[in-house]
Amino acid sequence: MLGEIEQVEREAMDGLAAANDAEAVEAWRIAYLGSKGRLKGLMPRLKDVPKEEKAAVGQRLNALKGSLESAFEAKKSGVGGGGGGASGPLLDITEPGLIRSERLGRRHIITRVIDELIEVFGRMGFDVAEGPELEDDEHNFIKLNIPPEHPARDPIDNFYVDDPAKVTMPRMLRSQTSTVQIRTMEDAVAKGWGPPLKIISPGRVYRPDTVDATHSFMFHQIEGLYLDRGVSMIDLKTTLEQFAHAYFGEGADVRLRPSFFPFTEPSAELDMKIALKPGEPAKWIELGGCGMVDPAVLQACGVDPEEFTGFAFGFGIERIAMGRYGIPDIRMLFENDVRFLAQL
Ligand code: DAH
Repeated sequence: MLGEIEQVEREAMDGLAAANDAEAVEAWRIAYLGSKGRLKGLMPRLKDVPKEEKAAVGQRLNALKGSLESAFEAKKSGVGGGGGGASGPLLDITEPGLIRSERLGRRHIITRVIDELIEVFGRMGFDVAEGPELEDDEHNFIKLNIPPEHPARDPIDNFYVDDPAKVTMPRMLRSQTSTVQIRTMEDAVAKGWGPPLKIISPGRVYRPDTVDATHSFMFHQIEGLYLDRGVSMIDLKTTLEQFAHAYFGEGADVRLRPSFFPFTEPSAELDMKIALKPGEPAKWIELGGCGMVDPAVLQACGVDPEEFTGFAFGFGIERIAMGRYGIPDIRMLFENDVRFLAQL
């Protein structure tokens, strides 16, 4: 009898190992563990076993039952779900997904506005140019027609890295992206340029301003320069109006207001009518300066002002972002409170 039990166990284990889909496993269960299965068939025969062997055979039968059942459970959990006998829990692919979705990260709003501006101006034919944030006097001031005695060069209004009183070419954190106009023209001339030159340059600028709702010691500007034969103030106005309508919508209300900058003649300021807080009346907000590039600037960069004219502009990117997305305070753009940033 004990030999027979062993025989059944061997066959059962071989049979289970060979069962490789749910149907075969179920057929195996019926054949070995079912009410008319081999295990049940062995049970009645216990009464024919001699008395002194009964206990041992009984235990062996129980052990067989236990091992067949656990082998069956183990096999069942590895079959199905297309697993073909691979181990691991059954997977019900019809279950719904996670109800709680993960919070996705996003680019900062300033980065997104910069990309949007590059896109809009790109459609108008402007390429992107870059310049260093650590600049020198020559590019931040001299070639932009800002003479040594000009108040804009005062050390208390700039982040100088070298003492301006002690060196002839002090270095500084650039206070305006107009530096890139100079560098781009110099580069183009050095490479034997041919017109047109049509670039924008977004980037960081630094000024020791006290932080309040509209000022910060670091902010972003986007500079523009278009140089060619016969560029006029009309081109400037058209470009800026087209930009405003493309970026802020057809209803955008913009105006050019006469102004002064050492590097443009004539100069203007671009204002836009915006309500920064819901329910408040719209106000004229200054986006930045613009004008026709001063002939002295062209000359300083080796461009002949008799042959070429150009326009330039430099706008505050935070101002543009605030207008576009209705952000009432510039500090919100730098505090990096995710509760605020996640709304944009
Ligand atoms: N650089 C000026 C500023 O930071 C802005 C500006 C004015 C840029 C006129 C220009 C320009 O290119 O033509 O205030």
